[in-house]
Amino acid sequence: MTPSPQIEHHDLGEQLRQFACDLALRAGALIVEGRRSGVGSVDTKSTATDLVTMFDRASENLIVGSLREHRPNDGIVGEEGTSLVGVSGIDWFIDPIDGTTNFFYGLPGYAVSIGARDPHGSLAGAVFVPTTNELFSAARGHGAWLNGQRIGCSTTTSLSQALVATGFSYQPELRRKHMARLQHIIGEVRDIRRFGAAAPDLCYVAAGRVDAYFEEHLGAWDLAAGELIAREAGCISGDLSGGPVRPAQVLVANPALFEPLRALINKADATCAAEN
Ligand code: IPD
Ligand code: CA
Ligand code: CA
Repeated sequence: MTPSPQIEHHDLGEQLRQFACDLALRAGALIVEGRRSGVGSVDTKSTATDLVTMFDRASENLIVGSLREHRPNDGIVGEEGTSLVGVSGIDWFIDPIDGTTNFFYGLPGYAVSIGARDPHGSLAGAVFVPTTNELFSAARGHGAWLNGQRIGCSTTTSLSQALVATGFSYQPELRRKHMARLQHIIGEVRDIRRFGAAAPDLCYVAAGRVDAYFEEHLGAWDLAAGELIAREAGCISGDLSGGPVRPAQVLVANPALFEPLRALINKADATCAAEN
């Protein structure tokens, strides 16, 4: 019997999840091994604080090389410059080191993030945090996984009990704005966390380690894998004005906290605007 297109597509998602996992593990091993003898050559990108090391580039080269070999018809976007148009309908989004500042300082919170999208949205993804040996992954409709175990988001229902992760842009003006906003949020929640890598932040919401995460001005590569992993773990995602999630505005939370936190962030922004 010929399989239905729906079943074929499910199989493709699962196949791409496994491929993304394999690539993330290999790239993770490469950057950890490289880091043992120092960070090597380092440049800056968008601002003086936005770093890129030789290992960001080496990781992207490894992932892109393998994708080109095994999936030559797919499109690829990589943070460190890869931009290839595909013809298969599958596009890959790669963050070869998410949390480069952590990597530079020898802090443990950095990751490799690899996500695949099809015309219906995110299809599969993997986020590997090598220093804790944690591999998060998901395929659309197949749930979210951490090292082979299913994961789910938290069940916290009260904002006052919510542990909320966030991050800041590399642009000084935006950082000031986002820090000012936090003054009106931190008193209303349990606490704020800034771990320094967006893809693990999203996975930590998926695993119930934090209750929510929000950030603005991300790249598609920050979001492609982690946001799918969070939704497959039962989270809700969106932007700050009630629309679909987009790299420019990301809010991910357990279902009970999504709307209350969205309202709190908007109220904080309104208060900041009134103060200026
Ligand atoms: C950054 C990290 C950080 C977030 C920034 C990202 P990078 O990614 O995810 O947590 O706050 O917005 O740009 O530059 O380390 O790949
Ligand atoms: Ca990143
Ligand atoms: Ca990066």
